[in-house]
Amino acid sequence: MSGNREQFGSRLGFVLAAAGSAVGIGNLVGFPVGAAKNGGGAFLLMYAIFVFAICLPVMMAEMSVGRFAKKDPLGAYSSMTGNAKHWKLAGWLSIITPFMIAVFYLVITVWIFGYLVQSVMGNLDALANPETFGSFIQSPVLFAYMAIVLGVIYLILQGGVKEGIEKAAKVLMPALFFMLVLLVIFVLTRDNAMAGVKYYLIPDFSKINGNVINGALSQAFFSLSLGMGIMITYGSYIDSRSDLPGSAKMVALMDTAVAFAAGLMILPAIFSFNPDTDPSQLSESSIGMLFTFLPKIFLALQASIGYIGASIVASSFFLLIFFAAITSIVSIFEVPVAALMDEKNMKRKKALVLMGVLLVVLGSMSAVSFGMSDFFSAFTHYAGADKSFFDLVIDIFYDTILPLNGFLICIFVIYRWKKANFSAALSEGAQEYGNGWFAKYVNFSVGTFIPVILLVIFINTVAAKYFGVTLIG
Ligand code: ALA
Repeated sequence: MSGNREQFGSRLGFVLAAAGSAVGIGNLVGFPVGAAKNGGGAFLLMYAIFVFAICLPVMMAEMSVGRFAKKDPLGAYSSMTGNAKHWKLAGWLSIITPFMIAVFYLVITVWIFGYLVQSVMGNLDALANPETFGSFIQSPVLFAYMAIVLGVIYLILQGGVKEGIEKAAKVLMPALFFMLVLLVIFVLTRDNAMAGVKYYLIPDFSKINGNVINGALSQAFFSLSLGMGIMITYGSYIDSRSDLPGSAKMVALMDTAVAFAAGLMILPAIFSFNPDTDPSQLSESSIGMLFTFLPKIFLALQASIGYIGASIVASSFFLLIFFAAITSIVSIFEVPVAALMDEKNMKRKKALVLMGVLLVVLGSMSAVSFGMSDFFSAFTHYAGADKSFFDLVIDIFYDTILPLNGFLICIFVIYRWKKANFSAALSEGAQEYGNGWFAKYVNFSVGTFIPVILLVIFINTVAAKYFGVTLIG
């Protein structure tokens, strides 16, 4: 355990950085789309239950392992098991997964940045044209945007934990909350907005089925940045005097609050655009919603606030999503960088450049998966469908490996590290934790039904994604 490991400067800094990781494209776009299509309030209720009953204990497991080991995920699994080979494998998975998630997250962040630039430049009318997105994602200008986004990530991460990650979170997160509140207020004062609020808050339980439940849990899991080694890595940067369970609860609360507010922004906006919309018929994907449907809604605002006003709203919206995406991708990319620093004794800047080059290569392969390259656009074929390189990365790492990593950390803390050590680690800095009902719930759930649920999701996903067999759904 290294004595001079980098650390967050304060508990608030840690909470904001972890919330910055959690609050991302998942909350701001994925959640509202899920809620719009799957029963509004019913989806929200289910999501909130999953966040607190399932994801929060897993987050605490990850953070406590990181804080105890004071190492990256690979180092943590190795040092806490005397280098046991199979646990090392879990460590490897926890650093390869975030790297591969960065590979697709980078591409979406680059698109968001491109749309931000275009709306600031006054091109909202072009963005609202349904043809634009298809040509935008095939245009070589993406590489210029990618260079800028990578430059921002580098700038933040080269500053290290306190001067880079924490400082960025302390600026970007309050800015994000502020913009989100302003946009929600603006949307709620539009005509017909209340129809959207009603749709959002009145639960329709008839829309809930096995698939929706699975989707909501995956959404919550990804949204809290679990299964990607992030909370292990961020946990390794806090001292033992901090109240870890309290911090984890705050992160879960902020993440859910932002998802809730994002729903309050997007659903009323849809209804105010067209009061007769049936949200369950909206585009299948978050991507379609973000890049084709929403620009149309923003442009329609010109009737009431003029073109410049509409462009300002669109720019604020894309800036908000961009801030959320940057604080998330920074945390995702920090994991493999921390692993190189810890495992190979590499300096931060060298590790960043090395990982950065690899990210440019794989990120470009995924950026050209949308028609720029035939090879990467139809990269492989399974379960009866052609898959691009981008699809393959999402199928393997987002859909399949995330729940597996979650399963492994649960089994690890309860059956290898042992309940008593896990509880004792969480009680450091939070003396009263160990005696309360919450500690009992965390120990019980992490040792029983949470890993069972995650394993079932993993098996179900493998059967459905790669063999076209529906076990549950
Ligand atoms: N937790 C991040 C998100 O929701 C990765 O997008």
